[in-house]
Amino acid sequence: MSVRDRWRLYKRVCLMFLLTVVTLTVVHRGNVGSGAQLHLNKYSRQGAAAERLSQRKGLYGGPERFWKVRRHSPQATTEELSVTEYSGPSVWDVTISNCTANNNFTSSEWFAGLESNFKQFLLYRHCRYFPIIINHPEKCDGEIYLLIVIKSIITQHDRREVIRKTWGKEQEIGGKKVKTLFLLGVSSNEAEKANHQKLLEYEDYIYGDILQWDFMDSFFNLTLKETHFLKWFSTYCSKVRYIFKGDDDVFVSVQNVLEFLSSTQGDSLFVGDVIFKARPIRKKENKYYIPQALYNKTHYPPYAGGGGFLMAGPLARKLYGACETLDLYPIDDVFLGMCLEVLQVTPIKHNAFKTFGLVKNKASKLNKEPCFFKSMIVVHKLLPPDLIAMWDLVNSDLVCSQKAQFL
Ligand SMILES: *[C@@H]1O[C@H](CO)[C@@H](O)[C@H](O)[C@H]1NC(C)=O
Ligand SMILES: *[C@@H]1O[C@H](CO)[C@@H](O)[C@H](O)[C@H]1NC(C)=O
Ligand SMILES: *[C@@H]1O[C@H](CO)[C@@H](O)[C@H](O)[C@H]1NC(C)=O
Ligand SMILES: *[C@@H]1O[C@H](CO)[C@@H](O)[C@H](O)[C@H]1NC(C)=O
Repeated sequence: MSVRDRWRLYKRVCLMFLLTVVTLTVVHRGNVGSGAQLHLNKYSRQGAAAERLSQRKGLYGGPERFWKVRRHSPQATTEELSVTEYSGPSVWDVTISNCTANNNFTSSEWFAGLESNFKQFLLYRHCRYFPIIINHPEKCDGEIYLLIVIKSIITQHDRREVIRKTWGKEQEIGGKKVKTLFLLGVSSNEAEKANHQKLLEYEDYIYGDILQWDFMDSFFNLTLKETHFLKWFSTYCSKVRYIFKGDDDVFVSVQNVLEFLSSTQGDSLFVGDVIFKARPIRKKENKYYIPQALYNKTHYPPYAGGGGFLMAGPLARKLYGACETLDLYPIDDVFLGMCLEVLQVTPIKHNAFKTFGLVKNKASKLNKEPCFFKSMIVVHKLLPPDLIAMWDLVNSDLVCSQKAQFL
């Protein structure tokens, strides 16, 4: 055996060992976690939900009134939409990636003055779609009421694991099917790519809930994740009623999502933690800094924080077409606001969506208050250990006096 052969053999053995360990861990956790413990949770949750419902009926005149949204603008739901729903091919039709840099403006003065991340963004801005690496065309088969989609990256395996065990669990509640998907690109780091891709594929083999496209997972490419999801959804999910789209570090009450949705309706529903008249950030140190050359208006259109928002399936299909008419913008949630503007749909702000702010106020008691989480739809930001702990508290025999006191 040559040294190279031996090295190959060694690598193969290592990989097999790794896969075995992962399998055992997953199988073991699956048995313990979803067995006794989740059963218990289910019972206490049902009890708590019934109790909560009767409380709310008495105190606040029923869930319909509690969840009622305040409309900021008369055009919140537009009847006439200028962009029609998708009617393209029924498979992912991008099979080759031949994205080359667009050097059309590299010699211009304004380009030379930009930071390197903006340069990279602009050089590849025209490359709109990439091939799909892991697909699940069957995910939307049948009637699905709520599709949960979560932005994730290859290395955040623990976050996905916890979400699957808590709020992202696929289930059927009162005849309404809930399904879950994670959205990923590829790692920008060669070592990560080599070590994690196989594991990701194995994770998907077990859970069947990963969508992965062949673009680099970077901050500015989050917009690609948005457009790829909209295209994918338009291609495969003609019967999904609602979508919850969010980050992998949030707490979500699916129970409250369903209550909220049963109190409202509309094929152009778009609701979240909406900011009106936000100004582009011009301080270079800020994560969300945008140079004048990229956006020169004084305000952004209204947009919902990307941490978690709800939208109707039919609207998502129109959004795909609307986004196609725009140049990509490096901030994903602002970009989606721009697409909504094309459709003349104003997103609705609801106080049960907390995707900005709370974290900044770390001292706030609300950060540790289970009754607060129990009355919200989405709260940013909770990492795996805190998420599990809060989930257990919220789903215990927790008795909360008033749901509305935090609003
Ligand atoms: C790049 O790909 C597109 C389709 O994805 C194709 O139409 C085009 O001809 C390709 N260009 C080159 C240079 O291969
Ligand atoms: C670059 O400019 C040429 C000529 O104006 C144009 O045909 C081409 O589409 C541009 N390339 C991109 C990627 O926009
Ligand atoms: C986005 O992904 C594409 C494809 O991997 C890559 O060429 C491009 O540089 C990425 N853009 C940014 C801003 O990271
Ligand atoms: C703002 O940007 C647009 C498009 O990039 C350009 O046409 C317009 O002249 C710019 N306006 C100002 C005031 O710089």
